[in-house]
Amino acid sequence: MPTLSDSLARALARVDYRRQLALVAEHDNGGGTEILGLASFGALDDGRVEVGLVIRDDWQRLGLGTELDDRLLQAAEARGFHQFVAISRADNVAIRKLLRGLAEIVSTKISAGTSEFTFVRRRTKNL
Ligand SMILES: CC(C)(COP(=O)(O)OP(=O)(O)OC[C@H]1O[C@@H](n2cnc3c(N)ncnc32)[C@H](O)[C@@H]1OP(=O)(O)O)[C@@H](O)C(=O)NCCC(=O)NCCS
Repeated sequence: MPTLSDSLARALARVDYRRQLALVAEHDNGGGTEILGLASFGALDDGRVEVGLVIRDDWQRLGLGTELDDRLLQAAEARGFHQFVAISRADNVAIRKLLRGLAEIVSTKISAGTSEFTFVRRRTKNL
């Protein structure tokens, strides 16, 4: 996406802390605060949310994605959502490994190079 439209920026930034929520990971570098990652969910219906997760390239593979996603799933469960959907490219190894530690996959649909995972949260992390 070469540019971000105002309407999409507004849609992404709108949260109500119940059906739409976002968590941001920050780092205080002494001179200011850097954004390291974002995890968010939006309700699909009364029991399921779609989740999105991104960690800044130079902070990946340090466990931050797992930690942030775990907190997001807990926040969703606290709001009554117990089933999760994540969509990624089918060759995205990182998200598959991350979910293996946090989730029980209920179903996977692969279509046109895209995977859609439906999952529930594991009670204890499988790290
Ligand atoms: C997916 C993503 C959020 C993972 O974040 P992260 O902070 O690197 O994740 P973690 O450090 O918690 O690692 C989780 C697991 O993935 C593995 N992993 C992370 N990046 C990997 C990579 N590039 N290749 C292979 N494995 C990788 C880790 O080794 C770890 O596996 P382990 O538990 O077996 O050791 C990050 O790669 C990202 O932002 N990707 C771009 C956006 C995206 O694809 N989002 C997912 C769609 S919703």
